[in-house]
Amino acid sequence: MKIFSTIKETNEYLAARRSEGKTIGFVPTMGALHEGHLELMRRARKENDILVVSIFVNPIQFNNPDDLKKYPRTLEEDIKKLEQVQCDVLFAPDAEEMYPEKVTKQYDFGELDKVMEGKFRPGHFNGVAIVVKKLFDIVQPHRAYFGEKDFQQLAIIKKLVEMENIPVEIVPCPIVREPDGLAMSSRNRLLTPEQRKEAPFIYRTLQEAKLRRQHICANPLRQMIINRFEGNEHFKLEYFDIVDDKTLQPIHAWNNKVGTVACVAVWLGKVRLIDNIRII
Ligand code: PAF
Repeated sequence: MKIFSTIKETNEYLAARRSEGKTIGFVPTMGALHEGHLELMRRARKENDILVVSIFVNPIQFNNPDDLKKYPRTLEEDIKKLEQVQCDVLFAPDAEEMYPEKVTKQYDFGELDKVMEGKFRPGHFNGVAIVVKKLFDIVQPHRAYFGEKDFQQLAIIKKLVEMENIPVEIVPCPIVREPDGLAMSSRNRLLTPEQRKEAPFIYRTLQEAKLRRQHICANPLRQMIINRFEGNEHFKLEYFDIVDDKTLQPIHAWNNKVGTVACVAVWLGKVRLIDNIRII
């Protein structure tokens, strides 16, 4: 595996592979790799000639400085995992390499980033879009792989690709869960053993929403699930919503609508976790 920390060497190496007619599959990450990331990589490995992974804890997508400071950094362990999935290129730049100048770009994603994560993490998706655009410019992948756990992020990235006419196929991949249902996330390793025991409540409650939607209208179901989260002393609910999977706007009636997702963000102690479930 080649490990590059500069844009120039990554660019040159991959330009040579492209000119040999090789296809490039790309998995952008912030490191602290878990089985969810590795699944994206295995799929990218299978579907492309070259697998490129980036590890960069992107400071401009953190609206909370404490969250940025606490974000797990495990480069040595990550490199071992990348070797196991036969990654060809790791691009691991530092912040000066990625942002030699102050970043001022402002994207307008319309209503997509005004709801859910966007409401509670101002500037977050602008920071994600800026780094993803920059990574796509550097790597120029044929396909890029993203997990559906970050459902809103995926919608924003699809919009970014459309707005900027980026010639890349975005490949959404299903959420990977622990055996007890907890969605895999780099943040899970910040949970205390007690919190880790409570965490599967999130997915259990989402499953309940999916089950009950056969019998209850959208608005009362939304309220019922909010009450469930608020009734559990271990969690602090930030939002729960039932939304259209394309516009991300709240659904108020089922109307046999296809493409409906229930999304949640909760605090478990000092750790913020998100999850979602497709309910139609
Ligand atoms: O999902 C993530 O890990 C990050 O938001 C991403 C897409 C790598 C951009 O920093």
